[in-house]
Amino acid sequence: MIVLLDQRRLPTEEVELVCTDVPALIDAIRTLAVRGAPLLGVAGAYGLALAAVRGFDVDEAAEMLAQARPTAVNLAYGVRRAQTAYRSALGAGESFDEAAAAALSEARALHREDAEASAGMAAHGLALLQELLPGGGFRVLTHCNTGALVSGGQGTALAVAGAAHKIGELRRLWVDETRPLLQGTRLTAYEAARAGMPYTLLTDNAAGSLFSAGEVDAVLIGADRIAADGSVANKVGSYPLAVLARYHHVPFIVVAPTTTVDLATAEGGAIEVEQRPALEVTEFPGDVSGRPVAPLGAQAYNPAFDITPPELVTAIVTENGVLSPVTETGLAELCARSRSGNGMMSI
Ligand code: MRU
Repeated sequence: MIVLLDQRRLPTEEVELVCTDVPALIDAIRTLAVRGAPLLGVAGAYGLALAAVRGFDVDEAAEMLAQARPTAVNLAYGVRRAQTAYRSALGAGESFDEAAAAALSEARALHREDAEASAGMAAHGLALLQELLPGGGFRVLTHCNTGALVSGGQGTALAVAGAAHKIGELRRLWVDETRPLLQGTRLTAYEAARAGMPYTLLTDNAAGSLFSAGEVDAVLIGADRIAADGSVANKVGSYPLAVLARYHHVPFIVVAPTTTVDLATAEGGAIEVEQRPALEVTEFPGDVSGRPVAPLGAQAYNPAFDITPPELVTAIVTENGVLSPVTETGLAELCARSRSGNGMMSI
């Protein structure tokens, strides 16, 4: 079985969710009990291992899991890694039980690697902030949730803010509420409070006035998929922040592991953006009574993500270094180095 912290219940309740089969895990993924790109990869790999251990059709489970949510490439990446380990073991003449053990061991390896990547991103991201903002005392705006809740380690963008906080250099963490599911209000505020960070919530619509008041030194966000050209898919509302940041000459920094880079997708327009149910917009978020706030039958446009073009991204921070400016060749080189384990790179 897979035991998850049920993120739908945070911040008011810390409740475990036990998934004993693949359909239960898929439901947890679709309803965002487990969410965030790196964690989806780890969950997908464990899900595949669970299918193998329980004797289910592994290839069928792989397809179902990989398609549970379409935008975060980490999900399919994690599933395929465990599936490949399973198939290789069978191909080498091992038993079904041994192949299932190989899938589980691959899932554990991905979990570990993700924690290591987190630490690398935090270190590189902090160094970048110090270089871009030598005066210190950073006022950072973030969107959605990118902390330890989405990772085997401390996360992506929030891990960088956390590293700045640890050395006393985080003056303010501005937390977008992140409509419609409030990952900022519910999850980032929960993590920031636990870490003792100086944080302030704002509605997504308030970001413009904050920039205009000169209160933002840098934007730090994560990513669900980065296309080969450096286009970034992330939680809807990221692209407007990038436009604001450019207008106000504020660095817009994307923090993501190389497992989020999808070189097989040429450009941003080719990334499938998940469309979510209208009810998430027409009802109060988290209101169990399902009380509508819109007229009955109202339609709603509810994409889960948007795409930020590379020219609006100041830098991409990965576990292997910082890419700035963001170019197609630079991104490919950074990923190639990471996959062959050739160490750090800063462009
Ligand atoms: O719909 P969600 O909550 O899964 O969306 C998550 C995000 O958009 C995060 O910013 C992204 O996965 C990066 S997390 C490190």
